[in-house]
Amino acid sequence: MNPVSETVLQELLERAYENRARAYVPYSNFRVGACLLAASGNRYDGCNIENAAYGPTNCAERTAMFTAVCAGERDFDAIAITCSGDQPAFPCGVCRQVLAEFCSPDMPVICGDRNRNVVKTTLGELLPHAFGPKDLEK
Ligand code: THU
Repeated sequence: MNPVSETVLQELLERAYENRARAYVPYSNFRVGACLLAASGNRYDGCNIENAAYGPTNCAERTAMFTAVCAGERDFDAIAITCSGDQPAFPCGVCRQVLAEFCSPDMPVICGDRNRNVVKTTLGELLPHAFGPKDLEK
């Protein structure tokens, strides 16, 4: 994991706001955008994609992460998440677990709401004592 400047975090946040506009949310009308920075320097976009059967809905964070992993990335430096709500939304439990598979506990997570209130935290604060790959090492 590489350190990330405030400038880059702001750029990720801006791109997450752009991605939010592409959310497919006919059921909740709650838009989420994400932008995930890989250690390679590449940035991966995500939005939430809902489904009429509800369960198959994919969160913005997982859209970004799965796109990145499919592109060959395995190491990440930061993620920005934006939502259409009145307070910044932190990743859901499933997304926290998916992030923990590839990201270290000190990875910055920056979240913004529709009024541009922003909260910055880390993955380790969101998911302490995570179960992860290390637990399956022999
Ligand atoms: N959602 C996300 O995209 N990310 C989260 O971390 C929380 C929830 C989406 C899923 C669903 O489309 C909508 O927000 C309402 O739950």
